[in-house]
Amino acid sequence: MKGIILAGGHGSRLRPVTYGTSKQLLPVYNKPLIYYPLSVLMLADVTDILIITTPSDLPAFERLLGDGSWLGLHLSYAAQDQPNGLAEALIIGADHIGDEHVALVLGDNIFHGPGFSQLLRKHPADMAGCVLFCYPVSDPSRYGIGEVDEYGNLVSIEEKPTNPKSNLAITGLYFYDNRAVDIARNLTPSARGELEITDVNRAYLERGEAKVVELGRGFAWLDAGTQESMLDAGQYVRTLEERQGIRIACVEEIALRMGFISAAQCLRLGEGMRNSPYGQYVMQIAHAPAE
Ligand code: DAU
Repeated sequence: MKGIILAGGHGSRLRPVTYGTSKQLLPVYNKPLIYYPLSVLMLADVTDILIITTPSDLPAFERLLGDGSWLGLHLSYAAQDQPNGLAEALIIGADHIGDEHVALVLGDNIFHGPGFSQLLRKHPADMAGCVLFCYPVSDPSRYGIGEVDEYGNLVSIEEKPTNPKSNLAITGLYFYDNRAVDIARNLTPSARGELEITDVNRAYLERGEAKVVELGRGFAWLDAGTQESMLDAGQYVRTLEERQGIRIACVEEIALRMGFISAAQCLRLGEGMRNSPYGQYVMQIAHAPAE
């Protein structure tokens, strides 16, 4: 299974901050926002990942993450000239995907909750069609919304509906089989001029091949697109990390636990950041991984 992180867009709701840098490089407490979706793909055991961003931001992502070998990953980069819609990621990433399945994650989505790693690894292997992850929200008109019947089957899906049929948002994490590339190539832009990921998902739904997994109570799904949500996300991460003494989306720790790097490699990464609490944590888990 290949991975794609879509980390482009204008970040217009965060201006003027995003005049100087990409939203997905901004800190959420103690690490760049993109570490959170990157950690989701790593936990899903996806190691070959394409990062798509704007032409002007691309060098900064390369500077931060390089070729990924320091995490035991293979990272590559591609530019999206204009924010033409989320589904364009599947077209830009077609060569990268090849004949495999793909996990697409939005660069501003943060997922955190019990059992998430197992959930991520449970689905891709036996996947035919797509797997979507939904989450109850209080403001459904802002998202792609799924309607689910009493047996948990997805029956409809709409993008930012004025009269939502449910409060279940389709989150920015999508597992697709290889047909997603052709589906995306055959889309026409929506009224707002974008290739909509919701139209890709609807194509699977119409074939009876869209599975939905509900992220329940006690789970956190945050999208960090506004100044308020960035701050909320940072506070959430800080509270949990300080209370529990663990780190959320510490990519070095995940690489170590997943067996992508050795303890010695992990220690070297931590030593390079020894002046920051984050770096000290990486050194600590290299010596004795937290439970
Ligand atoms: O966060 C989940 C939601 O993401 C889903 O529920 C919706 O179905 C889906 O359409 C999307 O809605 P948003 O309104 O959040 O999409 P937005 O246009 O804000 O784009 C999400 C991220 O993707 C954002 O960080 C910018 C980036 N992006 C967006 C577009 C349209 C790109 O990199 N390229 C693009 O072409």
